[in-house]
Amino acid sequence: MNDAIQTIMTRPSVRAFLDKPVPEETVERLLRAAMAAPSAKNSRPWAFVLIRDRAELEKLGAALPNAKMTATAPLAVAICGVLDKTLPGEAREYWIQDGAAATENFLLAVHALGLGAVWTGVHPISERIAILKETLRLPDGVEPFCLIPFGWPAGPVDAKDKWDPAAVHTDVW
Ligand SMILES: Cc1cc2nc3c(=O)[nH]c(=O)nc-3n(C[C@H](O)[C@H](O)[C@H](O)COP(=O)(O)O)c2cc1C
Repeated sequence: MNDAIQTIMTRPSVRAFLDKPVPEETVERLLRAAMAAPSAKNSRPWAFVLIRDRAELEKLGAALPNAKMTATAPLAVAICGVLDKTLPGEAREYWIQDGAAATENFLLAVHALGLGAVWTGVHPISERIAILKETLRLPDGVEPFCLIPFGWPAGPVDAKDKWDPAAVHTDVW
């Protein structure tokens, strides 16, 4: 199978990590992959907050039950929207789709390099947004989109088979 398709089809969410550091150049490769994502009019309205501090990872894991695995991950990244880089008018909300595209690119690059990660949802849950804004000291106009704990997987995780022919319609519903 083609390498890219293989990566897409075998990516699982990984929620348990080894206590083993991720090399600096690997982190940069992941961020480069995220920033290679498509965005509306190539606006790239994103920013990435890497979280390496153990106390901060534990604080986030404790404050966010949906992302408790952050407490035991070697690092995490918060993918954020930068609202003054997004498009005007109704198109402003494209920053969310841009953030999702960057997130998926990041997750696929993680898997391609043998690491593991999980997308933990932040936007649009106001309680989670407030926790990230406060913990990461995000300035006004920077909106946390998601939090991705990542590292070396603690064990093998199988990808799910999600193929659903009933979800496909041709020409009309
Ligand atoms: C928008 C979004 C929010 C998610 N939020 C969480 C979360 O808060 N915690 C979590 O453990 N997984 C979260 N996930 C991961 C999903 O649970 C996971 O992708 C789904 O169960 C499919 O499994 P897979 O990623 O292994 O294919 C989220 C995924 C998406 C796309």
